Amino acid sequence: MSLAGGLATWMEPLQAADLASLTTGPSGTPIILSTWRHGLPANDRAVEVLNAKGSVLDAVEEGVAVVESDLTNRSVGLGGRPDRDGFTTLDACIQDHDGRAGAVAFLREFEHPIKVARAIMDRTPHVMLVGNGAEQWALANGFTKRKVDIPEVRKAWKEWLKTSDYKPLVNIENHDTIGMVAMDANGKLAGSCTTSGLAYKVHGRVGDSPIIGAGLFVDGDVGAACATGTGELVIRTSGSHAVVEMMRNGVEPEEACERAVRRILHKHPGLKGHQVGFLALRKDGAHGAYSVYKGFDYALTKEGRTQLADAPYMMEWD
Ligand code: GLY
Repeated sequence: MSLAGGLATWMEPLQAADLASLTTGPSGTPIILSTWRHGLPANDRAVEVLNAKGSVLDAVEEGVAVVESDLTNRSVGLGGRPDRDGFTTLDACIQDHDGRAGAVAFLREFEHPIKVARAIMDRTPHVMLVGNGAEQWALANGFTKRKVDIPEVRKAWKEWLKTSDYKPLVNIENHDTIGMVAMDANGKLAGSCTTSGLAYKVHGRVGDSPIIGAGLFVDGDVGAACATGTGELVIRTSGSHAVVEMMRNGVEPEEACERAVRRILHKHPGLKGHQVGFLALRKDGAHGAYSVYKGFDYALTKEGRTQLADAPYMMEWD
């Protein structure tokens, strides 16, 4: 199957026979990709879960939960920077091989939004709960609140209020996410995504991370993708869904990530200073990454080893 046939080939959906040929069979060991350096401990935890015979869905949930618990992290979990009104609000989603999904958005004072998202998937007929409704549901379903006050975070927010300058900093930890896509030794896929979102966002703002198709998309017939960076850009282009659909149509994972980045730039001419990065994992174990700017790294677990990898990129930020 030629994957380098240009636009015409890209636009033509794969035939069933081609799709079948994508399945070269599971690698025999899990493959896990997660965004940024904070993905390293997350991948390690995901491997532990798989080694203990947990499902790949459990692995992506438990993996990113490690980062949610890290109160030194300023873009994920309760240690995340607040919105412009001083509230840290959390977004997360999870999706399994068969497309079942759960998501929560605009949640406050819960340590593990990813676990709330998983519970919404498992225990309700819905995909997403938000805000007060999500909070009430979580409390009624065994989750407890945790209040965290981090003086350094409060001080930085008060400092920010002096100018209220609304500018994400490329690759600086003020606007990122942990997204994870994983495949177990039997070829089952799952993904997760969790964030405190854009620092100093408007109260009520929800980014791409809890939106299935934007921050995360998993289709066990094809592969999985997740995103990090300026959520508005990812939502407008259904970024992770676009990556998976391109892979469905025969585009290699890295190329699919690059095309999703190019699409964002094409739709936003002149856009500067916004990082977006994608990770993709195809069902045969092929994987790739790509970002707008240099500096997006990700944790890659493969053949029993976890390491940090640098994503290819479109341009440098100075
Ligand atoms: N990608 C995280 C956000 O924009 O909220």
